[in-house]
Amino acid sequence: MAEKGRVCVTGAGGYLGSWVVKLLLSRGYIVHGTVREPGDEKNSHLKKLEHAAQDLHLFKADLLDYQSLCAAIAGCKGVFHVASPVPSGTVPNPEVELIEPAVTGTHNVLKACSAEKVHKVIVVSSVSAVSMNPNWPKNQVMDEMCWSDKEYCRETKNFYCLSKTLAESQALEYAKNNGLNIVTVCPSLILGPILQPTMNASSLILIKLLKEGYESLENKVHVIVDVRDVAEALLLAYEKPEAEGRYICASHTIRAKDLIEKLRSMYPNYNYPKNFKEVMAEENYSSEKLQKLGWKYRSLEESLSDSVRSYQEAGILDKN
Ligand SMILES: NC(=O)c1ccc[n+]([C@@H]2O[C@H](COP(=O)([O-])OP(=O)(O)OC[C@H]3O[C@@H](n4cnc5c(N)ncnc54)[C@H](OP(=O)(O)O)[C@@H]3O)[C@@H](O)[C@H]2O)c1
Repeated sequence: MAEKGRVCVTGAGGYLGSWVVKLLLSRGYIVHGTVREPGDEKNSHLKKLEHAAQDLHLFKADLLDYQSLCAAIAGCKGVFHVASPVPSGTVPNPEVELIEPAVTGTHNVLKACSAEKVHKVIVVSSVSAVSMNPNWPKNQVMDEMCWSDKEYCRETKNFYCLSKTLAESQALEYAKNNGLNIVTVCPSLILGPILQPTMNASSLILIKLLKEGYESLENKVHVIVDVRDVAEALLLAYEKPEAEGRYICASHTIRAKDLIEKLRSMYPNYNYPKNFKEVMAEENYSSEKLQKLGWKYRSLEESLSDSVRSYQEAGILDKN
């Protein structure tokens, strides 16, 4: 396979980061992966990926440690900035636990990219940086023009949304001011098989739907995208010279109740929610811009069955 060049992935050991590393290695890239604890069991899966023995180099780096990022990024043509805290619930100190690593962390990564003369940077944002906008016309599909309102995020204590909004808007501003080629990608709820041995926040949402047996659940809209399709979107944004600005990356919009019915038809015996509470439908995104770039996505059924199989194989879920 022809060598494609050297790229860096921040947060290489996380859920999405691991799939990005796997995809890049399979396409002939040499990958510098940043992890906070290279020797930790939670990163042990990385070295087992195909081509990892020769082509994956792990660097110990924290987003708040600029020098460690420079060392990881040195010699790379491209950077995939994936790392950012993704909590499962509320956190006691959002400024320190969420905002600072997301915002100062992204700034440090971009500064290191400028210093190391990186050609292109793909920043992973989120639809959380899109959706929290009370002024967006109701019933109008949200596209890349829609930004979460920072004040509204603060008032409603959506600090994860705030962290992603601040980080993404800062990245696009940095691109303008410093002439660095930066593209941002905003995925919705990411599901699909896990590679890493520890559980991440979005996978936990599906696992809980399968085994928690909630007495009552809000019949909210879930907008789902497969982790493998997100990795493909990031690579597409990197490889296509015409990619610019931000890209929403979302595939399937489904109400909680319909999602549960689908899961129940595939796996009848898990402990599903018993009742649903009706709520207003929210969230509807367009990924048209990304599709025009050539992005395709798999079916929801494929994502769900591959997710469940991977949880069963990891011993998180009983065989049904
Ligand atoms: N999962 C979703 O539904 C979803 C949806 C939209 C966007 N995203 C975005 O996708 C990216 C990856 O999320 P994920 O779902 O894969 O979550 P994850 O598995 O929790 O991965 C987060 C990664 O960020 C790293 N990280 C956090 N704080 C750091 C710090 N201070 N310094 C260095 N590394 C740090 C973590 O490293 P450690 O292992 O050392 O903690 C981990 O590798 C994030 O930017 C997230 O906002 C996720």
